[in-house]
Amino acid sequence: MVIEKICCLGAGYVGGPTCSVIALKCPNIKVTVCDKSTERINQWNSDKLPIYEPGLDEVVKQCRGKNLFFSTDIAKSIQEADLIFISVNTPTKTFGNGKGRAADLKYIEGAARMIADLATSNKIVVEKSTVPVKAAEIIMKILRANTKPGVEYQILSNPEFLAEGTAIVDLVEADRVLIGGEDTPEGQRAVQELCWVYEHWIPAKNILTTNTWSSELSKLAANAFLAQRISSINSLSAVCEATGADVSEVARAVGRDSRIGPKFLEASIGFGGSCFQKDILNLIYLCECLNLSEVAAYWQQVVNLNDYQKTRFTRKVIESLFNTVTDKKIAILGFSFKKNTGDTRESPAIYVCKTLLDEGAKLHIYDPKVETDQIYYELTTPYVTNEPEIVRKNIEIHNTAYSAVSGAHALVLCTEWDEFKELDFKKIYEVMMKPAYIFDGRKILDHEQLINIGFHVQTIGKRLSRTGSIRAQGSQTLP
Ligand code: NAD
Ligand code: UDX
Repeated sequence: MVIEKICCLGAGYVGGPTCSVIALKCPNIKVTVCDKSTERINQWNSDKLPIYEPGLDEVVKQCRGKNLFFSTDIAKSIQEADLIFISVNTPTKTFGNGKGRAADLKYIEGAARMIADLATSNKIVVEKSTVPVKAAEIIMKILRANTKPGVEYQILSNPEFLAEGTAIVDLVEADRVLIGGEDTPEGQRAVQELCWVYEHWIPAKNILTTNTWSSELSKLAANAFLAQRISSINSLSAVCEATGADVSEVARAVGRDSRIGPKFLEASIGFGGSCFQKDILNLIYLCECLNLSEVAAYWQQVVNLNDYQKTRFTRKVIESLFNTVTDKKIAILGFSFKKNTGDTRESPAIYVCKTLLDEGAKLHIYDPKVETDQIYYELTTPYVTNEPEIVRKNIEIHNTAYSAVSGAHALVLCTEWDEFKELDFKKIYEVMMKPAYIFDGRKILDHEQLINIGFHVQTIGKRLSRTGSIRAQGSQTLP
């Protein structure tokens, strides 16, 4: 079979960008991205795409209406496709068996049942979503139990490694593409068909093929390793603050070892995003089900340390402000979970804001890309301690950083947006209450300059003195 038509179920952060790049690189393949949500599909067909991702607008503009389509006509797209990506969400279960840890596979199952109901010809079904090991078996069971005469399925695992904010570059210049399939002649033929699609732009040596279960597990493992590096450096940031060492210097020194490498050693207020926590919890649940309690406990510690880091930072803010933030105006700069995305899922800013709101603070929030309604949504659902109306009364969303900081007792930087480095801090100092505090949760500001202006500055993994010089070992963290 030569792949002529691709359908993707799920027009989210993965389905949208991935299929846009496939359409760009494979002009002879018709790619249709489907979603159950009419609103999402309408946005994909409009000038304002549902997600912000550098470079995405250009790719969509170039291909949409030619060989790239966004549609709610799932039946037609499934029926005409040779290959179907399942790119639906796999959130952590919020109730029932495995609550708070296991992946909820209801959307995967729903997608598989749709395909089983609608397909009238042979299909290669590709699991693109991140799933627990052996999820392909579920898809396989549903499809093969409902096969119509003359319809055959091959199920592949092809996890996605893109990171938000750099999705287009990650897809165009992927380090590797991973494809897992059944070890049968038909399975291997399907693997080759998918390799052929990627070989339009990815060098063959960068396409790894494995068995299905290795592919599924490798995705969870890759995210667990990345998150573990962040928790490792964050654990050391606490040691740095207690001793006078500087975590950036430690990261630089450690990362120079070619066996360790320099990437993903940026200490922060903690990792966020829709993937890391969810996928580690998923791995932990798998280990528990396999009676591997020591392995589960090992990975659990990565999540625990991340929670500790978020708590530690927020506590530092409150303690520095004389242990009370009640009725104090606090400016929050950045609400997305990292720069260059409007995504707020599991953003550490949510924890920081909720805790400050619980302590009675008035928050003035600015983020360059997150929509106002999204901020309200995150801070009023799902585990509010205050009534949503009270939360809303204590939050104001701003269009600029300057208006957010006006009259504030403290500025708390939660996301590393580049534009925050360019702010005029002399101007900001003038309009803030005194003493004026800055808490740099991302270590991106020029701390010495801020101290010289007159700010009290705190950051992650480094002690700073008010006189502008970095303190020698043994000194106290300043209030
Ligand atoms: P998302 O929530 O942005 O998008 C999923 C979409 O699937 C939603 O729009 C939903 O309406 C749609 N959907 C659900 N069931 C459907 C069905 N039966 N038919 C059609 N549409 C359906 O999720 P996402 O961030 O794109 O993540 C998708 C998967 O990819 C998850 O498993 C995630 O873990 C994985 N992943 C995400 C990233 C990332 O950076 N976001 C990176 C790598 C892997
Ligand atoms: C991650 C993986 O990187 C990607 O391969 C996978 O497909 C999906 O999950 P993403 O969550 O989009 O991607 O972003 P990533 O760049 O990994 O950042 C995740 C979180 O870790 C962010 O909150 C980020 O600020 C934080 N981070 C990252 C750090 O705190 N320090 C670092 O050194 C790197």
